[in-house]
Amino acid sequence: MVRHVLTMDDLSSDEVREVLSLSADLKSKFNSGIREDLFPRRVMAMLFQKPSLRTRVSFETGIRHLGGASLFLGEDVGWGNRESIEDFAGVLSRYVDLIVVRAKLHDSVVQLAEHSQCPVINGLTDLSHPCQALADLLTVQESFGTLEGLKIAFVGDANNVSRSLGFTCAKLGVDFALASPAGYEFDAEIWERMQAIPGAGQIVDTRDPAEAVDGAAAVYTDVWASMGQEAEQAQREADFSDFQVNATLMQSAKDNAIFLHCLPAHRGLEVSAEVMDGPQSSVLQQAENRLHAQKGLMAWLLNTVA
Ligand code: CP
Ligand code: NVA
Repeated sequence: MVRHVLTMDDLSSDEVREVLSLSADLKSKFNSGIREDLFPRRVMAMLFQKPSLRTRVSFETGIRHLGGASLFLGEDVGWGNRESIEDFAGVLSRYVDLIVVRAKLHDSVVQLAEHSQCPVINGLTDLSHPCQALADLLTVQESFGTLEGLKIAFVGDANNVSRSLGFTCAKLGVDFALASPAGYEFDAEIWERMQAIPGAGQIVDTRDPAEAVDGAAAVYTDVWASMGQEAEQAQREADFSDFQVNATLMQSAKDNAIFLHCLPAHRGLEVSAEVMDGPQSSVLQQAENRLHAQKGLMAWLLNTVA
């Protein structure tokens, strides 16, 4: 059966651990100058409906490092408007070995995967960002040497990034707390599903950033208005004004806590410049880890194809 990774629901806890272990191994080899031919002559297609620096470049670079090639497809291929999704996905997936998709609507990726003969990876939708979460946990694991007994706090919007992060933490037994303003929190169903994951740690949903950050090993934030929510920017800036990650808030975290942000960041809004550019910031290591985590994910997925 072809496996897809559209949300973290698509990977079991053991599989997440396997991907992280492969990622750490590939990173260590890469840093020693080893670029194994894991994907010789394998081809990855990329379909992006939204802008991207990290996801696009880390996937394209990652597959090339390991012997494969990528095709960044433009609007001319006609995804969603030139032919049926059945025909589009059926044809594309007979040419390539892997498809990475960034879509406005999560359902577009679900439909593509339903009709694809090769694995599909979600490179961000309105609902989830699983590749980001894998890189995030890889970064925390590297920083502390373990994930055991750690807490990650997310301060900001209950969005694609915090949702994937929360589910990944739950799968790995990492405590997770999300502080978001009233009206921007997850539905109860999401919290119930996170808590029901076997081995999940403590899961906290709060309106109080200091409560979320208390004792955290990593403090994470993301933009207040995601791609596609530009019209809500002013309203969100008002509603999230008490949710900035700044030096005062960081004092509630562990002394050696790191700061994380999926990027792009807006200094002075969701994070102060002092924290973003300060000694606790691990955002560049985190961005770099997109490359290594996705190599691990590709290696795992492509080996899975029977
Ligand atoms: N974090 C992230 O996904 O960045 P891009 O939007 O640049 O890909
Ligand atoms: N939540 C943000 C993440 C960007 C990487 C967005 O969807 O725009």
